[in-house]
Amino acid sequence: MARVTINEIREMKRRGEKITVITSYDYATSKIVDSVGIPVILVGDSLGVVVLGYENTLSVTMDIMIHHAKAVVRGAQHAFIIGDMPFMSYQISVEDAMRNAARFIQEAKTQAVKLEGGVNVADKVRAIVQCGIPVMGHIGLTPQSINQLGGNLVQGKKPEAARQLLDDARALEQAGAFSIVLESVPYKLAALITEKISIPTIGIGAGAGCDGQVQVIHDLLGLSDFVPKHARQYAKLIDVMTAAAANYYNDVKAGTFPTEKNSYIIDQSVIDELKSA
Ligand code: KIV
Repeated sequence: MARVTINEIREMKRRGEKITVITSYDYATSKIVDSVGIPVILVGDSLGVVVLGYENTLSVTMDIMIHHAKAVVRGAQHAFIIGDMPFMSYQISVEDAMRNAARFIQEAKTQAVKLEGGVNVADKVRAIVQCGIPVMGHIGLTPQSINQLGGNLVQGKKPEAARQLLDDARALEQAGAFSIVLESVPYKLAALITEKISIPTIGIGAGAGCDGQVQVIHDLLGLSDFVPKHARQYAKLIDVMTAAAANYYNDVKAGTFPTEKNSYIIDQSVIDELKSA
């Protein structure tokens, strides 16, 4: 099956077809999400938290992102794959932003990049797009600004903040972004922004009025006990994995694993000969 293109994603908004986006960080998981036809995979810097165990995304580097993005690209042959630009890979200068965006395309072979911010990063978005690299914006709760925002808080509730979000969305659209993530934004505001711009909005904690949804795969699979308000748990793998690890541990201790079924055979004559050696 051919890989999803940026034009197909634009076309989905035009047709009113919802766009499903999911995060993935490794080969095996990417193969699974690709096999069910999910059209867009985000190699999110959320991997810093859910895969690497950091407190937030601020410790994630370009080298870490490229390493994981390469594995995702090897696993998913069909989905459009977006590499998330980590903290300080694009904020310092337009040149930095272009160079690091190009690393995703040249080294990891993703089809696009994502970066956080609105009006404040429009110059970087424009420069990357002018290089021929599709850019997804990300506004609302932007986790790389967690210290500035004061926590994982819903954004855009006050009139001035709501207005700023609309201005941010328009600035990203004008800079050439092909879509925008709206994170933790009141659903009526997200729906209004979606109506007012021509590019797809992809919500996470932004309600059903967005053109599509993105979720962190660990939340959907139930890989931890915590379920964020914006997520739905479709499985509880933490229980399945805990039971499997405990069963393995018990079987080895009890000598019930491995059995002959899990073992390799050798001609008895070889053993007999060695016994007398
Ligand atoms: O890093 C990430 O996974 C993200 C999504 C939550 C949008 O940015």
